Amino acid sequence: MREEISVLIDEARVAERVKELAEEINRDYEGKKLHLICILKGSVFFTCELAKYIKVPVTMDFMSVSSYGDGLTSSGCITISQDLTMNIEGREVLLVEDIIDSGRTLSYLVHMLGKRNPASLQICTLLDKAVCRTAELHAAYTGFEIEDLFVVGYGLDYAQKYRNLPYIGELKLKED
Ligand code: IMP
Ligand code: MG
Repeated sequence: MREEISVLIDEARVAERVKELAEEINRDYEGKKLHLICILKGSVFFTCELAKYIKVPVTMDFMSVSSYGDGLTSSGCITISQDLTMNIEGREVLLVEDIIDSGRTLSYLVHMLGKRNPASLQICTLLDKAVCRTAELHAAYTGFEIEDLFVVGYGLDYAQKYRNLPYIGELKLKED
């Protein structure tokens, strides 16, 4: 199979939207401190770029979760391969995710992290495949709502490839 990628959201539009999201966050968290949780590996580019434009005091932590195999569809099974290093009790937590598909990964995380008593726990996602949602979940901040496509780039991968693309591309598998 040949992997074909076409630009869905270009680099400039992604950059612009990330700044807009940071402005919204700055307004909502004014006077507070914000604890960003980056869900590895997919949201690493997004979290770092977003964090640059957040003006309230920021702390950051990282967590590694896997819900996808190497294919195009979710395995449905969520495993925590690396937990947080900091305690989130009493913190204003913002979970930063690359994409919400079924919503299973984040609803699992929200449930798990909620038990650790953060002051607040909200979600910021770059992309949302809202049509694919099966779990009950609300993201306070969404960059772009997209159709049911498989996307790569800006942190998102296909079989660990293409994370470094500076844009969001649609991946199609074509017969050779
Ligand atoms: P969910 O649990 O079904 O919401 O799946 C969310 C996770 O699946 C994301 O954090 C991504 O890692 C992965 N994922 C979902 N859709 C895509 C896609 O189009 N491209 C790459 N990864 C995806
Ligand atoms: Mg992810």
